[in-house]
Amino acid sequence: MIARCGRVVVLSTGLLGSLMILLQLQIFTFEFSPDAGITSTQPLTMERRALSTPDEESPSSRHFPRVLLIGVRKGGTRALLDALALHPRIKAARREVHYFDDEDNYEKGEEWYLQQMPLSRDEITIEKTPAYFTNPLVPERVHRMNPAMKIILIVRDPVTRAVSDFTQVYYNRLELNKSLPIFSDLAFTKDGEINMTYKPVRNSLYSTHLERWLKYFPLGQILVLDGDVFAKDPLSQLQLSENFLELPHKIRADHLLFNPTKGFHCFRKSPTSKVKCLGRSKGRPHRNIGDKHQQHLAQLLKLHNRAFFQMINRAFDW
Ligand code: A3P
Repeated sequence: MIARCGRVVVLSTGLLGSLMILLQLQIFTFEFSPDAGITSTQPLTMERRALSTPDEESPSSRHFPRVLLIGVRKGGTRALLDALALHPRIKAARREVHYFDDEDNYEKGEEWYLQQMPLSRDEITIEKTPAYFTNPLVPERVHRMNPAMKIILIVRDPVTRAVSDFTQVYYNRLELNKSLPIFSDLAFTKDGEINMTYKPVRNSLYSTHLERWLKYFPLGQILVLDGDVFAKDPLSQLQLSENFLELPHKIRADHLLFNPTKGFHCFRKSPTSKVKCLGRSKGRPHRNIGDKHQQHLAQLLKLHNRAFFQMINRAFDW
């Protein structure tokens, strides 16, 4: 009898011990998963834990992004994403996912978002959707998902950016046989002020948009890159990105080939791989909006630019 009791005690202690070890292992995996994109302070559902943890049986799985390239639209976001993806420790979602800004997508939930991410092991997953920068709902939603999210914003001269944005809208409408916009009619109010409702101009009000992000993320978590510098000297901005992501400098000058016909750099993963340039809609001649309107817009944007410089403790030459 005593012997039988002893065996039961030994058996249950053994079972309890194994259970404890299993539990500990599981907790360990959750908290130290290198690309979970989630901090341990965040409440996680079981599904999210499982989906964001590398699966031991398959060589790679999907991970939530730890970095978002939030914009600005026409700032050089596609080229920057493609160039960052040259880094062996970075995996980029190829298309713009529009999770945090599109109500239909947002309602699909985090598991849907995860499924849009590329397969990876312990690389850093990055996603870019320029609409994130300007949509007022996005900062809070991103923060709720991951308060430790790293944010990259690439800006360029806001007047040139607005003209580039306008050019894109113009050609999109041309393709769809829609009426063609006239910049000065849309960009300014009757009193000659900025028309805040016209997106190609509104997107250039960097301080308005960044202010909302700074309510949720400290400046140290936001890397602001210079899109005008990036277009000419991409490596400088890529190395700033590597520093920000705490990655070794792996993107080299020979990954980036200047194409004189395109007037921009094209990218290649290795000296033997195919060189990839961005499509025709990137780096095309801008619509001529007229010097007078351009100068007027530059004048009106000055105050906004100054507010932006104050927010980021740094000045650009615009
Ligand atoms: P323009 O078409 O006005 O010249 P986005 O990808 O955010 O829409 O930005 C497009 C802008 O990226 C282009 O604007 C172009 O100036 C800039 N850019 C920077 N590096 C580039 C590259 N290597 N190839 C093409 N465009 C590049």
